[in-house]
Amino acid sequence: MMKSQNQQPWVEKYRPRHLKDVVGQTEIVKRLKIFTGPSGRSMPHLMFAGPAGTGKTTCALALIRDLFGPKMKRNATYLELNASDARGIGVIRTDVKDFAKTQPPQGVPFKILVLDEADSTTPDAQQALRRTMEKFTQNCRFILICNYSNKIILPIQSRTSLFRFSPLSESEIIERVKFVAERENVDIEDDGIRALIYVVNGDMRRAVNYLQAAASLGEKINEELVYRITGKINPLEIHHLLEAALAKEFMVAKRKLDTLFKQYGLSGRNIIKQCHQEVFNLEISERAKLDILKLLAEIEFRLSQGATEEIQLNSMLAKLAIIDL
Ligand SMILES: Nc1ncnc2c1ncn2[C@@H]1O[C@H](COP(=O)(O)OP(=O)(O)O)[C@@H](O)[C@H]1O
Ligand SMILES: [Mg+2]
Repeated sequence: MMKSQNQQPWVEKYRPRHLKDVVGQTEIVKRLKIFTGPSGRSMPHLMFAGPAGTGKTTCALALIRDLFGPKMKRNATYLELNASDARGIGVIRTDVKDFAKTQPPQGVPFKILVLDEADSTTPDAQQALRRTMEKFTQNCRFILICNYSNKIILPIQSRTSLFRFSPLSESEIIERVKFVAERENVDIEDDGIRALIYVVNGDMRRAVNYLQAAASLGEKINEELVYRITGKINPLEIHHLLEAALAKEFMVAKRKLDTLFKQYGLSGRNIIKQCHQEVFNLEISERAKLDILKLLAEIEFRLSQGATEEIQLNSMLAKLAIIDL
């Protein structure tokens, strides 16, 4: 028993169970809490949109728990389905409908169906979904989860109340990472936390996953370890690379690039991506930044077409050297 408990992924172990425990997304949480109060019965269909790892599924489940309490029972009062299931439209024609058409059990005002990746379905499937949502609104409220709300057909958009999730802020990720690290008794240095923030881009799932992966090595968690396990280059090194190239020190830049390639074993496109992220931290004119962005876009495109990495990256260094700062 103990063992399986320990092996539970931390993302699940530390998934907030109640709305009050959700980190950030304050406006969303505030609006959702209203449905758990006396006006719960008036809850409309909802749509949660936003990037991965920001709390969409977490908020859906927490809302259901706060609303239903001990009556939260899978298959009875709520159901979570994934629309990108291999059976495609079948999920919507059968599973969704079967759940939605039956009356809610005693003591709950309606059932709730959470449909994840709703934007992965075809417009046809969405039309079928819309009809089911309309027909069985009395029995069942829907929470549709998606990355992009504009990939959902308008008739559904207009029948749901939209909640836009944003990437979590630095301080929110710091707060959560410190919280989990403390509970799990792992030591993480400040530079390790900063590195985590850099690599996860507002995605809390990745932050917690990387923390667990780093902790499992049993070493002190610092920036070096975080970059090692995430396969990212320390942004300082990218910064030095760009600076050397812009300063027209071609050979210095080239040696730096060669070491990065060897040391990290990254693809050219990954390096370009990180250069792109770092451009905004360079102390050069706006104009020069725009030139670099255009250049990076060009190189990235060529690499995507199968051009040779070494030749393209050297050409990038050469072109950086002729940019007016
Ligand atoms: N706002 C948040 N507060 C606390 N933990 C979060 C938050 N968002 C994500 N997480 C962590 O990441 C995991 C995945 O979150 P989830 O809600 O499934 O993301 P998604 O937006 O992709 O549905 C959760 O189990 C939790 O550990
Ligand atoms: Mg999710």
